[in-house]
Amino acid sequence: MRKLITVTAILIAAISAVYFMACNNNKSEPQVNAREDSIKNVIARGEYLANHVTPCLDCHSKRDFSKFAGPVIPGTEGMGGEVFDQKLIGLPGTVYAKNITPDPETGIGTWTDDEVLRAITQGISKNGDTLFPMMPYVNFNHMAKEDLLSIIAYIRTLKPVKNKVPVRHLMIPISMAYPGPALQKSVDDNMRPPESDPVKYGEYLINAAVCMDCHTPQVKGQFDFSRSFAGGSAFDVGSFKVNSANITPDSATGLGAWNEERFMNKFIQYREEAAYSFDPGTQNTIMPLVSYAGMTDDDLKAIYAYLRTIKPLSNKVEKYPK
Ligand code: HEC
Ligand code: HEC
Repeated sequence: MRKLITVTAILIAAISAVYFMACNNNKSEPQVNAREDSIKNVIARGEYLANHVTPCLDCHSKRDFSKFAGPVIPGTEGMGGEVFDQKLIGLPGTVYAKNITPDPETGIGTWTDDEVLRAITQGISKNGDTLFPMMPYVNFNHMAKEDLLSIIAYIRTLKPVKNKVPVRHLMIPISMAYPGPALQKSVDDNMRPPESDPVKYGEYLINAAVCMDCHTPQVKGQFDFSRSFAGGSAFDVGSFKVNSANITPDSATGLGAWNEERFMNKFIQYREEAAYSFDPGTQNTIMPLVSYAGMTDDDLKAIYAYLRTIKPLSNKVEKYPK
């Protein structure tokens, strides 16, 4: 009798365990999927931003300037090594884009999310070194934390590439270049404006996309903010020279006479590989047009909407100097 009770008890326990597990499974399955879905969404947002808005992967990969607008060379994503120097942009020294792939030795494989966040928003590397502000942490310092975390989640999915990047050489002390006091200590309170407000959202995107760094003239190495977006910055890539355009709404020398369609077309035509897979010779551009072309129509329209609201400045630029 006792044996029977024990067997029955075990059976009941076993059945209820199976039942419990089944119920639990039914309940937890959608939860697991929801979590996987949200991780997928976060990585997809990061992939979109890092490739098409914040041009992380233009600077941190190799670009092929034998084609129009120097598209990223597949397989080099995040490996670093691109050189920024005096000749290219008048930089006081030579700075190399770092390896941001998950390679543990030469990339950021061993970094925590907080360490990456600090590097990209405060300009402080894992080992405490100050980064040169060619790395646009001044801009990323104003991005919403969730966008920044999605970029970090995405760059962790890049293929690890072993590539030791050379050490930079500056002709000025880094403390002269570090914009420390201008940086917010924390990105926790940064807001992403609603997309329903295209002008505000466009302003957010244009900051994230670092348009101003190339389109604002510099005086003695400092941006002249009284002439923001007036263009005229000179780039010497070697195989070609190009000056950035005036993108203020000035009608004679800027985008004043452009309409939304013309602005959109400057970008979206490069969604087709055929549009950039040719050697343009000396009429090439350093603007990462192929990457920006992947921005959604709405995001490009928001950028256009914001650019219509800024102060028109007269500055005639010869895009292709003789
Ligand atoms: C305009 C070019 C440019 C863009 C855009 C850019 N970076 Fe950088 N990044 C650099 C350069 C150059 C350095 C190295 C600076 C130095 O050596 O002082 C750097 C350094 C870094 C570092 C520090 C690595 C280390 O080993 O110290 C990280 C992390 C990083 N970038 C991530 C990013 C991410 C993520 C994005 C996009 C959100 C991004 N970068 C966009 C040029 C760029
Ligand atoms: C790496 C530097 C760089 C960045 C970043 C950059 N541009 Fe440019 N841009 C240039 C240069 C150089 C030119 C002139 C050559 C050309 O037309 O591509 C130019 C041209 C343009 C033109 C064409 C204007 C004309 O008169 O033909 C527009 C519009 C423009 N940029 C908008 C933007 C916007 C918007 C962003 C940010 C989403 C941006 N640029 C980011 C360098 C840059």
